[in-house]
Amino acid sequence: MKAIVLHGSPRKNMNSDTLTMRFLEGLNEKGSHEVKHFYPNEMDIKPCQGCLGCRTPPDHNCVIEDDMQHIYSAYMDADIIVWASPMYWGYITAQLKVVQDRMEALAWKGFYDKTFVVILTYRHHVESTVGMFKRIAPFFRIKLHFVTCKTYDEETGKDLPISSCVDELEEAYVLGQTLGAE
Ligand SMILES: Cc1cc2nc3c(=O)[nH]c(=O)nc-3n(C[C@H](O)[C@H](O)[C@H](O)COP(=O)(O)O)c2cc1C
Repeated sequence: MKAIVLHGSPRKNMNSDTLTMRFLEGLNEKGSHEVKHFYPNEMDIKPCQGCLGCRTPPDHNCVIEDDMQHIYSAYMDADIIVWASPMYWGYITAQLKVVQDRMEALAWKGFYDKTFVVILTYRHHVESTVGMFKRIAPFFRIKLHFVTCKTYDEETGKDLPISSCVDELEEAYVLGQTLGAE
């Protein structure tokens, strides 16, 4: 299988990335899978300009020539799309939202029939992002999986290290194993 990972956090190797790596460890346990990583924070990806150039058949290509073109081709080719992000103000990060908006070009063709693994770390609220993915999944025939992890202790008001999220790390690993064996 082929997977792409869209890393939404500007903080490399921190909470959402660590959960994601655990998922990939499980995935890679069975079979050989090709995984491509994308870090939008380090890429030149402009926001969607709403020009609707991508409406033009037959190719429905986005007219903006930037690093998003690498994500388009990898997305089309992939079986599994991992959306990994912390919650910033109740949603995925701005870096990942720009990628999501630019997916409009794929919504005309090629966005369909993927497996989405949505990995979210947060302090308070995760529902808005979970709700968005649930809402679009049936239309695009997407098989949807979530690993959500609260990295915050309400009692002390302090952030928790991801290493303390033992259950969620295991959940990510088992999900990887399950999908890797399919
Ligand atoms: C600028 C900023 C805004 C944040 N806003 C929210 C928020 O609205 N809701 C929430 O649950 N967590 C919020 N958080 C907490 C992060 O989602 C949480 O610490 C997450 O585990 C960080 O993941 P990362 O280590 O992968 O970046 C915010 C963090 C930052 C830095």
